Amino acid sequence: MTGNALNVIDAGPEHAGVIVDIIHRSFGARPKLEPPSKALDETVESVAEQLANAGGLLVERRGLPMGAMLFDESRPGQLGLRRVCVDPDIQARGVASAMLGVAEDTAEERGKDGIWLDVREELPDTVQFWSRRLYHPVGRDEPFIEFGKTLWLAREVPTPGEMHTLAARLATLLKPGDLLVLSGDLGAGKTTFTQGLGEALGVRGPITSPTFVIARTHPSLVDGPPLVHVDAYRLGDAAELDDIDLDATTDEAVTVVEWGEGMAEQLADSWLHIRIEVRGARPIDPLGTSHEGDLVDEAEPRVVTVKPHGPRWVGVPLRSTLLAP
Ligand SMILES: Nc1ncnc2c1ncn2[C@@H]1O[C@H](COP(=O)(O)OP(=O)(O)O)[C@@H](O)[C@H]1O
Ligand SMILES: [Mg+2]
Repeated sequence: MTGNALNVIDAGPEHAGVIVDIIHRSFGARPKLEPPSKALDETVESVAEQLANAGGLLVERRGLPMGAMLFDESRPGQLGLRRVCVDPDIQARGVASAMLGVAEDTAEERGKDGIWLDVREELPDTVQFWSRRLYHPVGRDEPFIEFGKTLWLAREVPTPGEMHTLAARLATLLKPGDLLVLSGDLGAGKTTFTQGLGEALGVRGPITSPTFVIARTHPSLVDGPPLVHVDAYRLGDAAELDDIDLDATTDEAVTVVEWGEGMAEQLADSWLHIRIEVRGARPIDPLGTSHEGDLVDEAEPRVVTVKPHGPRWVGVPLRSTLLAP
């Protein structure tokens, strides 16, 4: 590595000496905590053992160690981050961010659904660091706050039948109060997805593209939550969405809002954003005869992206459920 580039190394037991040193220096430089952090009790042996079990990361710049973390694979489907530290003389946010980016890639490569870590509640800067990166506090075990994040995913969906299958898999994870925001051009498959969801949830159909109706409630036929299907296409803004008074129903229902991006999110502090893109769709027509919102080609495969927002989705096995072969 040359210049100022950061080098993030997949660490093994051979890096234990360097890593225990940076752990001691960085945790030792923190304000005094009661009880003191157990990080100060780590030894070369204890760090080597953790590295042998689950690995970790070491960040270097010009060959000098700048930061480190240890991985923890004790929870199924989740990657734990321990002893996340940055050299106290540097305190550059860039090191922590770079290291975290690689940690999230590692979680994905290892087939995990999400990441967890414990943060000392007495350290507001650290709490803020994780909150800003969309890690959500999901538990408290004094003096720790547990933070978690669920990884997003994208997958190809070649046919309407597979769109139904994807929706049916998601249905197994849904609970009353859940909000799904669907986006994608006209004809992308938002209603097709919602139909698959309705079938899987066992609600009374048919689910159609609403024409005059903006919100439609489909009661459950199987003692489950109803499906509230909203088409926000004709709504001017979030205030109008408020007018249709979804709040009254969203606690007990699964709510799906087509065209809801930027509007529906205020209905809940957690939601799933599902974006459907049509592969091969021409974004710009040089003659200006088509524009965004035009009907898309029926036969093109779709790429569906699912992004969780908010604490509701922490710990939910989204990737493993939706990406399973
Ligand atoms: N992979 C696919 N996923 C979903 N729909 C598809 C796919 N391939 C073709 N289609 C077709 O595209 C159309 C999607 O329409 P619709 O679900 O009403 O879109 P939207 O609600 O996004 O406007 C349907 O006619 C559907 O059969
Ligand atoms: Mg539609």
